[in-house]
Amino acid sequence: MRMTVRKVKGLRGQVRVPGDKSISHRALLLGAIAEGTTRVRNFLPAADCLATLACVRALGVEVERLSETELIVHGRGWRGLMEPKDVLDCAGSGTTMRLLAGILAGQPFYSVLTGNEQLRRRPMGRIAEPLRQMGATVLGRNDGRLPPLTILGGNLHGIEYRLPVASAQVKSAILLAGLYADGSTVIHEPGPARDHTERMLAAMAKGQTSNFKLQTSKFKVRGSMLSSLDIVVPGDISSAAYFIAAACLVPGSEVTIEDVGVNPTRTGFLDALRKMGADIVVENQHEVSGEPVADAVARAGELRGIEVRGNQVPRMIDEFPILAVVASQAQGTTVVSDAAELRVKETDRIANIAVELRKLGARIEERPDGFVVEGPTPLVGTRVNSHGDHRLAMSLAIAGLAAEGETTIEGAECIADSFPGFEEMLRALSS
Ligand code: S3P
Repeated sequence: MRMTVRKVKGLRGQVRVPGDKSISHRALLLGAIAEGTTRVRNFLPAADCLATLACVRALGVEVERLSETELIVHGRGWRGLMEPKDVLDCAGSGTTMRLLAGILAGQPFYSVLTGNEQLRRRPMGRIAEPLRQMGATVLGRNDGRLPPLTILGGNLHGIEYRLPVASAQVKSAILLAGLYADGSTVIHEPGPARDHTERMLAAMAKGQTSNFKLQTSKFKVRGSMLSSLDIVVPGDISSAAYFIAAACLVPGSEVTIEDVGVNPTRTGFLDALRKMGADIVVENQHEVSGEPVADAVARAGELRGIEVRGNQVPRMIDEFPILAVVASQAQGTTVVSDAAELRVKETDRIANIAVELRKLGARIEERPDGFVVEGPTPLVGTRVNSHGDHRLAMSLAIAGLAAEGETTIEGAECIADSFPGFEEMLRALSS
């Protein structure tokens, strides 16, 4: 599928973006092992989360779909999952595979996790290794490092583990296995990866606070029962990022994103844009289901290049392709470092954003752990390719709004992995 974008005069309006992808996955997975029924509103009906839904059902969990975005998960309790009769297909979703592997490591049965070609290339040694240390048998291709993964779980014991990378998926896999382990599991993280699992676990483990201790960059978990929860999923800030960036880039724009999640482990991109000189205001902040939610207002302004590195990187890990687009229109140099993780996302996002943005006329150079962009450069519309990566496709669409002429994004169907309705919403905001 192709998406064609032309230069626009401005983006104006108020929108709600679809529910947060990370929180939607977790609502299903934790709801599945909780006691009682978990009601999920504003669930993200995107390909990645639907893969988690299918896997959870294959483990014997009944999930009622009241509408596209509203679900009731009939939790089977801590020990209620059933051995799946077939291979579990995680499609292209790393979150599904890694978090589910953590839960399956705790189950006294046999399961196999696979996914599409893109996912079968992604590194799984990072979860397989700690899960083995906890006592699970985890096998995979390439010496146990690549999917499909075969898991024979049960009889886990807690470990103390230092994460080699700031990854919420790895942290969550160990935490979920920790629910099934004897003794406590302690995780140290090198940087602030998103903490949605910790927040939801704490909310579901009401009255058992001694089993869930969150200290700065350290989380401790002990086996315990989870209670069901009513979850209202906030709008996904990683989806909102495209419209916020567009509003900052296109003169005369003002866009409000209502009810978007503003968890501090996810707002690195807003901080980066503000540092670049963008006019971004976050208002009406309140808490919903243990997560901070607010309205974000973005207006066009003069932008300058910045440096992004260290602890800011995990706080905006999915926003680097769109940052590169914004940087191409900012005055001066933008330097991204400490972001080698980008090379093992859905695709190598450093290589691919550099190749595609150069086709539009941007000056961007790869570095092993990031990239350098010199701006501003006028962009000229042409044919670009998503490489099957949703975040690349949407970033290129936003670049097309600032480019002369017409920009065609080949392989735009992958946008549905995280943001169904993106194109319609973008058109509704554009003039
Ligand atoms: C996610 C964590 C991030 C992110 C991914 C979703 C999650 O990956 O890139 O889109 O839901 O936990 P890492 O934890 O591997 O950095």
